[in-house]
Amino acid sequence: MKGIILAGGNGTRLQPLTFAGSKQLAPVYDKPMIYYPLSVLMLTGVRDILIICRAEELHVFRRLFGDGAHLGLRIDYATQDKPRGIADALLVGADHICGEECALILGDNLFHGAQLPVLLRRSAAKLRGCVLFGHEVADPRQFGVAEVDEHGRLLSIQEKPEHPPSNLAVPGLYFFDARACDIARSLAPSARGELEITDVLRAYLDAGTADLVWLGRGVTWLDTGTHESLLDAARFVRDLQHRQGTRLGCVEEIAMYMGYIGPDACHALGAEMSNSPYGRYVMDRAGTFRQGLPPLSFVEEM
Ligand code: G1P
Repeated sequence: MKGIILAGGNGTRLQPLTFAGSKQLAPVYDKPMIYYPLSVLMLTGVRDILIICRAEELHVFRRLFGDGAHLGLRIDYATQDKPRGIADALLVGADHICGEECALILGDNLFHGAQLPVLLRRSAAKLRGCVLFGHEVADPRQFGVAEVDEHGRLLSIQEKPEHPPSNLAVPGLYFFDARACDIARSLAPSARGELEITDVLRAYLDAGTADLVWLGRGVTWLDTGTHESLLDAARFVRDLQHRQGTRLGCVEEIAMYMGYIGPDACHALGAEMSNSPYGRYVMDRAGTFRQGLPPLSFVEEM
């Protein structure tokens, strides 16, 4: 399965912060926002990843991740000159996906939870069209919303409905089979002039091949579209890390536990940042791994 992180857009809701650079590079406590969606793809087992960003920030993303080899990944880049909707990522990324399955994640979506890696891999393994996820939120009006029947089966998907049919928001993470690019090509722009991801999902739903996977209470989903939610996300990461002593979205650690790089390489990556607590954490985790602790089920439990 290939991966796409959509990190374009003008981040107008976060201005003036985003005048200074891409929203997806803004800090969420101790690391750039994009580390979190990258972690999700890595935990799904996706190693061939395209980052779609604005041309102005291409060099910054490149400086962050290069070709991805140090993380045992292959990372490529493509630019989007203006935001044309989430489904446009499937057009920009068509050459990258190249007729394979793909996981598309929005660069401002954060996920965390014990069951998440297992859930992601299981969902990817039984992909038969598209998989979208559902997560309960207090106010779903600002998201895609899933309408479900009494058995929890998906009936419809509505984008930012004024009167939501449920409180089940659809986060910005989607798994698609090879048909996704063709479906995106067939779409017409919506009233707001964008290619809507909900239209892609609807095409799968009409074909009877859209599966909704519920993210239970054990999974946290945060988005960072506003100043408030950005601060909430930073606080969440800070509080959890502070309490547990483990870090969220630590791509070096995940690369090691997923077997993409060895502990020596992981330690070396940490050593390059040894002046920061993050760098020392990476070194420390590599040392712990070398001693055979924690058990290899770590990734399952993360
Ligand atoms: C987009 C999608 C929406 C989804 C949300 C998740 O909205 O259109 O369906 O629920 O991302 O973050 P946006 O936040 O880009 O307006």
